[in-house]
Amino acid sequence: MPGLDAAARREGERARRLFNRAAPLFLVIERWLEPQYRTALGALDLPAGLSVLDLGTGTGSLARALAERGHAVTGVDVAERLLRRAARRVPAASFRRMDIAGLDGVADGSFDLVTAGYVLHGLSPALRRLALGHAARIAARAVLIFDYAAPGPWYVRLVEHLEGPHYPDFVRAPIADAVAGLGLTLARTVPISPASAGWLFARTAAGVTSAARPGRTRP
Ligand SMILES: C[S@@+](CC[C@H](N)C(=O)[O-])C[C@H]1O[C@@H](n2cnc3c(N)ncnc32)[C@H](O)[C@@H]1O
Repeated sequence: MPGLDAAARREGERARRLFNRAAPLFLVIERWLEPQYRTALGALDLPAGLSVLDLGTGTGSLARALAERGHAVTGVDVAERLLRRAARRVPAASFRRMDIAGLDGVADGSFDLVTAGYVLHGLSPALRRLALGHAARIAARAVLIFDYAAPGPWYVRLVEHLEGPHYPDFVRAPIADAVAGLGLTLARTVPISPASAGWLFARTAAGVTSAARPGRTRP
């Protein structure tokens, strides 16, 4: 994938290998996350018929909950094994393999909503910042993040330790710090469990960020 710097390329490749190997676990993860996403989207009651770009879509659990509510979803992920399952599970959405760090070619404001479900905690601070910069730039209206809001029980901490080193710092920092300076304003918080939440950010007019280069095409 041209345009990715070496560190981001290595991080994306590591995530690809890890999540492809972890694909069988998604049979369990889906049962845990899909009901959360459905409940949270019900509470948020977003306007109908949004175009949505779902970053780190995995096997499409959030994409499915969004598509069920009539939104037009494009899911992107680096792990092709997960994407194949997503395509089987959610025929109403479209999916393509793409590294988050390679989103430069997606035009500013080309989707109403950009979402990321349990993706950010696993990224390095640099890639997380880049991902959020792209999300703020690509979203015409809002960015919706689901992720950990506090340290979870031991089994969550164990799984996240196996994923990589970034979870402890992510859960300790307020989500507002992660989006500071990106032109996003927190509009709603939806508590999901004592340890996780959904955050809906409205994009302000000056939301286009220098953290990500503008592009022209839609994936
Ligand atoms: C914990 S899973 C969550 C999957 C999905 N959002 C869900 O809620 O089930 C994190 C996802 O982020 C993806 N991911 C991690 N790093 C990525 C990167 N650099 N580019 C694209 N996807 C990435 C992984 O492949 C994985 O599918």
